[in-house]
Amino acid sequence: MAGFLWGAATAAHQVEGGNTASDWWAVEQGANGMLEPSGDGLDSYHRYPEDMRLLAEAGLDTYRFSIEWARIEPEPGVFSADELAHYRGMIDEALRLGLTPVVTLHHFTHPLWFVRAGGWRAEGAIDAFRRYVDKTCEILEGVEWVCTINEPAVLTLMIRMHEAFLNPAQHLGGPRPSRLPLPDLDMGRRLGEAHVAARKILRARTDAKIGWTIAMQALTPTPGNEDTYRAAKYAWEDIYLEHSRDDDFIGVQSYTSQLVDAEGVVPHPPSPDNTLTGWAYRPDALGMAVRDAAAAAPGVPILITENGIATDDDDRRIAYTAAALDGLFAAMADGIDVRGYLHWSLLDNYEWGHWGPTFGLIAVDRATFARAPKPSLAWLGSIARGTGSHRLPSTSA
Ligand code: BGC
Repeated sequence: MAGFLWGAATAAHQVEGGNTASDWWAVEQGANGMLEPSGDGLDSYHRYPEDMRLLAEAGLDTYRFSIEWARIEPEPGVFSADELAHYRGMIDEALRLGLTPVVTLHHFTHPLWFVRAGGWRAEGAIDAFRRYVDKTCEILEGVEWVCTINEPAVLTLMIRMHEAFLNPAQHLGGPRPSRLPLPDLDMGRRLGEAHVAARKILRARTDAKIGWTIAMQALTPTPGNEDTYRAAKYAWEDIYLEHSRDDDFIGVQSYTSQLVDAEGVVPHPPSPDNTLTGWAYRPDALGMAVRDAAAAAPGVPILITENGIATDDDDRRIAYTAAALDGLFAAMADGIDVRGYLHWSLLDNYEWGHWGPTFGLIAVDRATFARAPKPSLAWLGSIARGTGSHRLPSTSA
């Protein structure tokens, strides 16, 4: 299908290194050894031309990456012309290589000053985000796809975790819950407001398609627990997909699937099959996620902005992705409008506090920063070129 995007994704803090003005950096340093630091990352801040070249040479045509608010606006209202030029350089390099850039404006990290001033709970938060988004429009010419905020539901959980790390005195005591809490609805509404504000600015100042990327959970109710299921699905997905109805696309991100019982989302049972993040091996989740997203925001085109597996066995990565594509293509054959597939991740990157779970199509030696493409990169590239094991369904042509 002409125009279907095939690519891979990263996020600034997970690959760049040295993101010292961000809240994540502060949390890593203050976590008393509970989190591994991101440190020099994969040095993609300097090595992005090589990363993009490897992606393009493999036959992929799209690169999703994020730009870093903490670098662009290291102090409130003070913008770095240098950093803006840096990210414009990334966009130019992608275009030069024939890659379609998919640019995320906010991928989990904030400037530390923003969080110190109260973060998203502060009165001026949306205005601060608006100011940042407005500034980024200066470098977005030629960019067709912009994601405003990455996985708002996960962000609400991260915000809660960071508040506990940065203000431990206020968050002491109480037994550790055995299940992950549901994403906070008030914070979710706030992020919804931020997304709508960003969309308005981007629509006025750019020609890009605007959306945000949703952590689709492929939740499944256990018998008799439909009410709990609906509440969990609302808090994870539907509250955000409501906003997607007025977007140009939905960014669908999918890794696994979970049951919902009377208590809520059931933790993944231990199994030798679980991935390196402890998640159930569920490549069928992608097809489920796409169908759920299409049902919640009918008619809005979908871009798969993340799908992948944390494994040190690259054959398993290929098997997972092949099965995920089967589910995706079946959904497309049923008429769901999907515009592309971007694998998470291009590189074995920093998995938010841990270096262990490797999601990459490319391994990286963290001492020398040498890149070593895995067979899965060429495998996915062959599908993109139309010579591989999987062909797009003809109904989508
Ligand atoms: C995020 C990525 C993360 C990946 C795997 C998504 O939640 O957008 O930043 O690395 O999933 O956990």
